[in-house]
Amino acid sequence: MMDAISPVITVDGPGGAGKGTISRLVAVQLNWHMLDSGALYRLVALAAQRHGLTWDNEAALIPLAGHLDVEFLADSGNTESRILLEGEDVTNAIRTEECGSGASQVAVLPGVRQALLDRQRAFRRPPGLVADGRDMGTVIFPDAELKIFLTASSEERALRRHKQLKEKGIDVNVATLSKEISARDARDAQRSAAPLQPARDAITIDTTALTIDAAVEQVMQLCRDRKLVRV
Ligand code: DC
Repeated sequence: MMDAISPVITVDGPGGAGKGTISRLVAVQLNWHMLDSGALYRLVALAAQRHGLTWDNEAALIPLAGHLDVEFLADSGNTESRILLEGEDVTNAIRTEECGSGASQVAVLPGVRQALLDRQRAFRRPPGLVADGRDMGTVIFPDAELKIFLTASSEERALRRHKQLKEKGIDVNVATLSKEISARDARDAQRSAAPLQPARDAITIDTTALTIDAAVEQVMQLCRDRKLVRV
């Protein structure tokens, strides 16, 4: 018999610490579901833009976030690979720095966060969930079986973001990117609603000098220690 509540691993931390990549690889190894919560905030920001709403218009953004017409199309690895907004594929459109900044701005609004709460918790399904974001361990899944907080130096995070964007054909200056990342970190960490901070029972992993494989292995070892995986 399946437990009524499936296990969750939360992976929180600032942008560029490797959350997305590492969470996805852990989810694939475990064959669990994956929640990219940042994508939801990015989708709200993009939908707002398309509906002519500014990113500080909380009264209008609450119903928009609550009724967001989104579809996550799973790939064979049980993790999302394409994202549809109002039927249109926006997988790449939500990854721009502009959308990231918009996401960080709409994420300040408590009503928007509240409107996305149930949608995020609904991702918790058997056999388990790896949830990546800023408040997964503190607010959305406080009872998670394993909580990870990923960090990396701001220089390293800027370089990684630069590489990621370049691979997508987006060329941004590293210094500009570094400034944008610092502004986003400050906004995410200083807001009063669910600020970016490690949960008290989170394990911090600094990925500055780690390869992706080494970071994934550290998380997998913690999964074994906690009996979340048999091998
Ligand atoms: O992880 P990301 O870069 O896709 O997230 C974009 C923004 O969304 C981030 O700067 C802050 C916000 N966010 C949040 O407030 N809470 C989350 N759980 C995930 C993202």
